[in-house]
Amino acid sequence: MDKNMSETLVRTGPGTAMGNLMRRYWVPILLVSEIAEPDCPPVRVQILGEKLLAFRDSDGNAALIDEFCSHRGVSLYFGRNEENGIRCSYHGLKFDRNGNCVEVPSAPQACNHMSITAYPCIERAGIVWAYMGPKDKQPTPPDLEWCNLPADHVFVSKRLQESNYLQAMEGGIDTSHVSYVHRYEVDEDPMHQGTKALDYIKADGNVIFEIEKQPFGLTLFGRRNGEPDSYYWRITQYLFPWYTLIPPFGDHSLAGHVWVPIDDHTCWAWSINFRPDRPLSEEEMNDLNAGKGIHCEYEPGTFRPRANKDNDYLIDRQAQKDKRAYSGVFGFAMQDASLQESMGPIQDHSKEKLLPTDRAIVMARRMLYEAATALQVDTDPPAIDADQQRVRAAGALLPRDQKPQEWAVIHLLDGKGQPIYSI
Ligand code: FES
Ligand SMILES: [Fe+2]
Repeated sequence: MDKNMSETLVRTGPGTAMGNLMRRYWVPILLVSEIAEPDCPPVRVQILGEKLLAFRDSDGNAALIDEFCSHRGVSLYFGRNEENGIRCSYHGLKFDRNGNCVEVPSAPQACNHMSITAYPCIERAGIVWAYMGPKDKQPTPPDLEWCNLPADHVFVSKRLQESNYLQAMEGGIDTSHVSYVHRYEVDEDPMHQGTKALDYIKADGNVIFEIEKQPFGLTLFGRRNGEPDSYYWRITQYLFPWYTLIPPFGDHSLAGHVWVPIDDHTCWAWSINFRPDRPLSEEEMNDLNAGKGIHCEYEPGTFRPRANKDNDYLIDRQAQKDKRAYSGVFGFAMQDASLQESMGPIQDHSKEKLLPTDRAIVMARRMLYEAATALQVDTDPPAIDADQQRVRAAGALLPRDQKPQEWAVIHLLDGKGQPIYSI
């Protein structure tokens, strides 16, 4: 990838082309549980390179404001969350959830010009989302299936990834790596084991991809031999600008990710499991809370994984030899993150030599780049309209002469009312 395109894609701070594009969508900011109660302690969050402060005001509204006081730049993290606003501890200026300065004790007349940045917030799927773009362009709330299910049908986690968002997200789009780094994990993991899908995946390692450009992003069709008269298709969705939907295994829950830049060197990897048809069972919840499936265990009191770059992700060379862990690292999330972080905080794209299996990420890069540059001349970004977000991922056995694209148009594009297709 050439330098200009790479720089455009990886930089997401204020004023950058990609940063402007991402700011046109609702952005997952933090877990609702991090600001659970009215007047709870505020939480520092950095998103798209901006240092911000999240809190819940006395009326119970989630709020996201500039971290720093407009007076002399003190962090409002050290302020008091009281009576519908944050009061700076230094000289007592107070800001409400809209960023308005509502009190300047020493000079009440100065209030009007002391306001700070604030972003509107909504809560969906246990996540506080903010809209960080131009005020007159605020889209309708996200309508991905997992965003609007009853609370007990969805499990959401986030983990810190110490790399640029792009190389993290590309792992979600590049499904060809599953046959390697995750090869043994699928047999042990409670959210994958014992499914017919694994028989097909193992019997046919030579997956053939067909990729379809969509108004919302990309659909990836991965073909393996199924029964003598059928193919097993794994159908993955990529949605602008940072969502992936993963095909399910057997009767296990559906899943997806969101990859959100913190700054250019770190991102949040959000991981979601959901059941459209029923609440998650106690057993499923126990596994999810224990960091199974696409989730992970943490360093206590943080969202940094317990297996991280400072301990070489707890690599176990014996497990590598014994074929219990392909790379020696355990867990889907850390298998991916270890390799993606090993590229460096921002992969040097001038040195990569892409292969045919990289076609999907090449297309995703190109679409993001085109959307970001088109926005500079005022062309609205793709898939802002929530109507375009109702797609589903699936695993399906289809007759060998059936085109999966035609099947997907009928069964997955407005997937919400459909049965779950999973093998
Ligand atoms: S720095 Fe915040 S009130 Fe003075
Ligand atoms: Fe992976």
